Amino acid sequence: MSGNELRKKFLDFFASKNHLVLSSFPLVPENDPSLLLIGAGMAPFKPFFTGKMKPPHVRISTSQKCVRTGDIENVGRTARHHTFFEMLGNFSFGDYFKKEAITWAWEFLTEHLQMPEDKLWVTIHPKDNEAFAIWRNDIGIPEERIIRMEDNFWEIGPGPCGPCSEIYIDLGDERGCGKDNCGVGCNCDRFLEIWNLVFTQYDRDEDGNYTPLAKKNIDTGAGLERIASVLQNKNSNFETDLLFPIIEHTAKVAGIVYGQSAKTDVSLKVIADHGRSMAVMIGDGILPSNEGRGYVLRRIIRRAVRHGRLMGIEKTFLVDIVDVVTGIFAQAWPDFAEKGEYIKKVIRQEEERFQTTLAQGMELLNGHIERLAQTGGKVLDGAVAFQLYDTFGFPWELTLEILAEHNLELDKQAFDRAMNEQRERARAARQANEERVIIPDLSGLNTEQFIRDESTTQANIVLLWKDGKVVEEVHDDDNVAIILDVTPFYAESGGQVGDSGLFTGPLGKVEIMTAKKLPDGTIYHLGRVSEGTLKTGDTVSTEIDWKKRSHITRNHTATHLLQAALRKVLGDHVNQAGSMVTPERLRFDFTHFAPVTQEQLAEVEMLVNREVLANNQVEKMETTQDKAKEMGATALFGEKYGDIVRVVRIADFSKELCGGSHVASTGEIGIFKISSEAGIGSGVRRIEAVTGFGALEYINSRETLLLTAANLLKTRPEEILPRLDGVLNSVKELEHELALLKTKLAKGEVQNLLDKVQTIQNVRVVIGAVAVNDADGLRSVADMIREQLGSGVVGLSAVIGDKVNFVVMATKDVIARGIHAGNIVKAAASAAGGGGGGRPDMAQAGAKQPEKAGVALEAMLNIIKQQLG
Ligand code: SER
Repeated sequence: MSGNELRKKFLDFFASKNHLVLSSFPLVPENDPSLLLIGAGMAPFKPFFTGKMKPPHVRISTSQKCVRTGDIENVGRTARHHTFFEMLGNFSFGDYFKKEAITWAWEFLTEHLQMPEDKLWVTIHPKDNEAFAIWRNDIGIPEERIIRMEDNFWEIGPGPCGPCSEIYIDLGDERGCGKDNCGVGCNCDRFLEIWNLVFTQYDRDEDGNYTPLAKKNIDTGAGLERIASVLQNKNSNFETDLLFPIIEHTAKVAGIVYGQSAKTDVSLKVIADHGRSMAVMIGDGILPSNEGRGYVLRRIIRRAVRHGRLMGIEKTFLVDIVDVVTGIFAQAWPDFAEKGEYIKKVIRQEEERFQTTLAQGMELLNGHIERLAQTGGKVLDGAVAFQLYDTFGFPWELTLEILAEHNLELDKQAFDRAMNEQRERARAARQANEERVIIPDLSGLNTEQFIRDESTTQANIVLLWKDGKVVEEVHDDDNVAIILDVTPFYAESGGQVGDSGLFTGPLGKVEIMTAKKLPDGTIYHLGRVSEGTLKTGDTVSTEIDWKKRSHITRNHTATHLLQAALRKVLGDHVNQAGSMVTPERLRFDFTHFAPVTQEQLAEVEMLVNREVLANNQVEKMETTQDKAKEMGATALFGEKYGDIVRVVRIADFSKELCGGSHVASTGEIGIFKISSEAGIGSGVRRIEAVTGFGALEYINSRETLLLTAANLLKTRPEEILPRLDGVLNSVKELEHELALLKTKLAKGEVQNLLDKVQTIQNVRVVIGAVAVNDADGLRSVADMIREQLGSGVVGLSAVIGDKVNFVVMATKDVIARGIHAGNIVKAAASAAGGGGGGRPDMAQAGAKQPEKAGVALEAMLNIIKQQLG
């Protein structure tokens, strides 16, 4: 039975059981960001299982294209692993359940495919006694051939899942590993899983919680290639008519015979598997790139190229496999063959690109492998793997696989580090590229014919350049500049930033960051190739990021209204001195010689908003320079316009010469809000403002600020002002109280010290330590003591922070007796590791060793004694 017959038989069988037969869904999941690629028959039906959407029928059957790369290393080494395969499935959405699923699977296998009953084994989830009973009692399988297995639970990312029951066929001793414990679930090729019946009864969320579904479902999956291998009596899936034609073709190209060497057989099988994957993936719209699905595709193509090399194929060969693949699927998917030429182009690009670097890369890698062998090393430096990736295009997984063939490992962390550094460099380069573009010699180019036309949606690439050099083609991740024969993009000018968007060519895509103008006015686009390849001459569709543009136009028209309003409120001396219109905000610099008052700003804002709400049409007309002047249009100082100029007029309110992008009528601006006003130079002021969603965001953020403040003050926003008044008043009161308290404390200290007054040579002396917050406090305590003493000398210390401060004061009469405050303080400070000095009547000092404060006070006393001596 051919693969095609088997597929048809399966679908016909389930059609006879009242299933709606649908054709395979594309490999790229629709509306399911949790999946990179469709990897199971049930994947496109997730919303039907969870009940989020109503299915077209409660029973559906498909043969679904699937790609899985988790087992890619096993491909070609076992009889059954693939990256691409077809999964036959029957699904019940809240309709039939275990009994029918099991009965029909058995009926199809044993009656319609005539598989020998005694060779079939089944597995069930350990707790699933219901399934056990059906298998044993209704189907009649002997108990010893029903195996309970812990991992019989099926799920694919978040979504519907449940316990499952699998059907295996025993292919006989000769296919086994011979080990004693070989049995169902063994990794060898003897017991082949041919069908998985999933009893979908849970919904798993992102956090791993399982919620029972309202209705029970059935999801089954049977590998088409595996069943074909059984029916066609082949040793592996690769020898069935679904893959073997590719092996035969490739063996011929390589000049070898299949089945003669285990090593070349693996390569032939890898190429057969990967050949189908790449063709189907590209057919479903995936292009090679360094990210996501594109990276999966790239890895598969490059892996296949390497296996071609391993068999000695030096030329490009994958391209020719495409016809064989489309031939295999001609019956299943009639329109696949039509995409053949396109698929070939994509593969040729990628294959040629990798072939030029594969040999050099292998040389480099082999050198390192030899060196490791000599030194007994086990791990390849991640930087080398990165060089292989970056310079020679080796997916890191490929390097890892080649290393594994030599029992070596890869320092993946170092690779990741190098990769992150490169991403950072690329990001910086892109930014630099945008800021300072190196323009190549374009003197040979007749740029006059290149035009701007906003209605354009398709254009031809006239010129590409990269790193300041003209190139014929660019590839994914390249930072490029592009000139088109016609472009709808607005190029940065008149303060308005350039448009962003996307160019899609036949074999690649470029994300456009911005558009700029060459000195002669020719527009060029700066971007990054996100997938595939683009060439000079390619026709591309040109898609502007209209959302960004709509923000820009709102801000641009608002800038005109702002200028007119400023003139009305501040006077005709207001002239534009600069402007910047981005999607986020507008910035307008103007001449004016005094600060703009709050009232004036409010009036300007009100005038602009009045125009916005009047919803006046924004007229754009082309006219001659002189006519425009006659009309009284505002023009920038020093700006040059051609003979024909464009006037943008908004009712009687504003008239400006301007080539920029504007809304159709002012109502689109929504709302205009000034966010700041400031002087930026003599006679020049700057206003920043926001419109539309930007204004909404601004107002919302202000409101959040208010709410947060109200929360902090434990009140409602309406009550903030009286509340704040109250808070400020009580702060004032507290400060007053605090001051009184401080004075009281200080007086207490003063009294304490006065109690300890000593008399030396008839002079009253007060020495002591006080607790104060700062040097001022220290001084005022000393002042008070001096006053109370009337005649005498006072020397104090205080530890403030991590320092110690000293102050000494003396009355006039004791100075006459020889007392010198400056010298006393000096002695004290130097005892505590500091220095200082001052006048005879008053001196202060600080020192760094507060622990020496006591010693310092003794020093004070000693020197006072000396001075009086
Ligand atoms: N979803 C299950 C599987 O892929 C049955 O279709 O094995």
